[in-house]
Amino acid sequence: MQDRGWIDLHSHVLPQLDDGSESVEMSVAMLRRMAEQGVGAVCATSHYYRQQNSIETFCARRADALDRLLVNLPEGLPRILPAAEVAFFSGISEKPDLGRLCIQGTRTLMLEMPFSDWTDLQVEEVSALVLDRGFSVVLVHPERFCSSKGNRQKLRQLEELPVSLQVNAGTLLHWMDRRVGLNLLREAPIPLLGSDCHNLTTRPPNLKEGRKIVIQKLGSAFLDKMDENAADLTRQTANATT
Ligand SMILES: [Fe+2]
Repeated sequence: MQDRGWIDLHSHVLPQLDDGSESVEMSVAMLRRMAEQGVGAVCATSHYYRQQNSIETFCARRADALDRLLVNLPEGLPRILPAAEVAFFSGISEKPDLGRLCIQGTRTLMLEMPFSDWTDLQVEEVSALVLDRGFSVVLVHPERFCSSKGNRQKLRQLEELPVSLQVNAGTLLHWMDRRVGLNLLREAPIPLLGSDCHNLTTRPPNLKEGRKIVIQKLGSAFLDKMDENAADLTRQTANATT
């Protein structure tokens, strides 16, 4: 299905599932803010931590949260694509049913790497997800891991696969972080932008502001390319759940 408006690939908009939206009312207000910003579809990437939930339990909780939201959803708000922000865990490359955590109907896996220094083994597992399991891996907010020189080098290795890099819009809005965010978008084989919104105050929907910076600094053709990337990665595919 073709959505009108932009795709926000990263949000914590589902109610009471993680540290994002605290209620159905807050979720609706967040979706309203997104719609005002021109967002037509949003990936609901609630945190998935293997130590907290099985994939089965997570998907059931996510479906319940989505149901509670959809019955209260006014018309005209962004379409919600169930997904997950999957925190890396040891053995992830061999985990069955991982496809259920992808953006629904796709092979796109939104992956949050560890906040510590990455090991060679971890890089190998990401490679296996791409090359052996056939996932389109999106590394979310890589800018958060770049203070480590070792991680920057490993990120270069991962870019060879290739993987997508999804920079947070908020990173581009803070002048101290902007350069890092823009450089990552420039070097990414598949650059992407997401809001990673959690609420309406400290981490609000801000895709529009981020897009403005991309146009100013990287040009409108670059933004168009990012929109194409987002459309490709959210397009429905066959065998999405293996
Ligand atoms: Fe997130």
